[in-house]
Amino acid sequence: MTKIRAAITGVQGYVPDYVLTNEELSTMVDTTDEWIMTRTGIKERRILKGEGLGTSFMGAKAVQGLLEKTNTDPMDIDLLICSTTTPDMVFPATANLIANEVGAKKAFNYDMQAACSGFLYALYTAAQFIETGAYKKIVVVGADKMSSIIDYTDRTTCVIFGDGAGAVLLEPDQEGFGIQDAVMQSDGAGWVHLHQKAGGSRRPPTAETVQNREHFVYQEGKHVFKHAVENMGAVVLDVMKRNDLTADTIHWLNPHQANRRIVDATAKRMGLDTGVDSEKVMMTIHKYGNTTNGTIPLNLWNYEPQLKKGDNTILAAFGGGFTWGAIYLKWAYDGK
Ligand code: UT7
Repeated sequence: MTKIRAAITGVQGYVPDYVLTNEELSTMVDTTDEWIMTRTGIKERRILKGEGLGTSFMGAKAVQGLLEKTNTDPMDIDLLICSTTTPDMVFPATANLIANEVGAKKAFNYDMQAACSGFLYALYTAAQFIETGAYKKIVVVGADKMSSIIDYTDRTTCVIFGDGAGAVLLEPDQEGFGIQDAVMQSDGAGWVHLHQKAGGSRRPPTAETVQNREHFVYQEGKHVFKHAVENMGAVVLDVMKRNDLTADTIHWLNPHQANRRIVDATAKRMGLDTGVDSEKVMMTIHKYGNTTNGTIPLNLWNYEPQLKKGDNTILAAFGGGFTWGAIYLKWAYDGK
């Protein structure tokens, strides 16, 4: 029998309306459009405004749109995984809230936490349920309201992050399309360089932790940058080698959008020419910034019209944990 693979059969994104530009940020902290553009490639990012709106609001919008677009009855969804670093609440899972909102009442659902690599971890986990034949329709949604954990007095982090969500539908494929291979890794020793100091069980919230601004992203940028370039490049090369892929036979690199310079370094290690081949590299960082779990599905959503059935696509990410990985898939449908 032909192997069952998990194929992405639909994609949808959601970004909030409010556009936070580099110009506006430069009125809030000591920074400039020039610094942000040269060091990161970010021009603007979206921010979710509105009392009581959390990550599930954006996730539900993306999933709702996905179900409509793919003519999927929410009651046919078997499993919904939400990858997020900014859950609405410590519990219950944001996936539970999203599934309830969209009417996926028969689905089993849970959250996945792997910081910026969360969407890849969730996608690869979901793929196992399809490959074993256990489930037929799975939604994976990556969503983050990063603005809820960003210190807008810290110029080293506040210029980078934005809010957004993207969702994909996974279904079985027996024609050779879908997820072919993956290399996923993590190293918990990296936690010291990128984390949120308080709010978890180790340091529960107190008036003091709030006063000390410990509920925001803490990042040692240079250190994370170095590890991101090294490790993301390494897993991408590994997955290429294992599958006899070359720069010529790859149609798309869909990299996590943390910093344009990290993406360029990864593309270069793959042998992609930054001139002519830059069209093979999905980029949305200039308009959304780093939406953490949202970046990879938002890339797919933005590039969907250009994707063709059979396109060799590599998804790659690096994030807090440290976590990182690369997935190789053959795109399963013509995007137009
Ligand atoms: O997505 C999850 C994983 N995260 C990442 O992959 C992020 C990886 N790190 C990065 O992308 C980069 O390290 C940053 C964009 C965060 C920072 O860029 P950098 O080139 O590494 O800058 P830096 O931290 O080394 O800072 C260089 C200078 C410093 O000034 P001095 O000490 O040289 O005088 C900073 O204070 O730039 C200064 N600086 C800024 N200046 C203007 C830092 N942030 C800003 C800013 N505007 N926003």
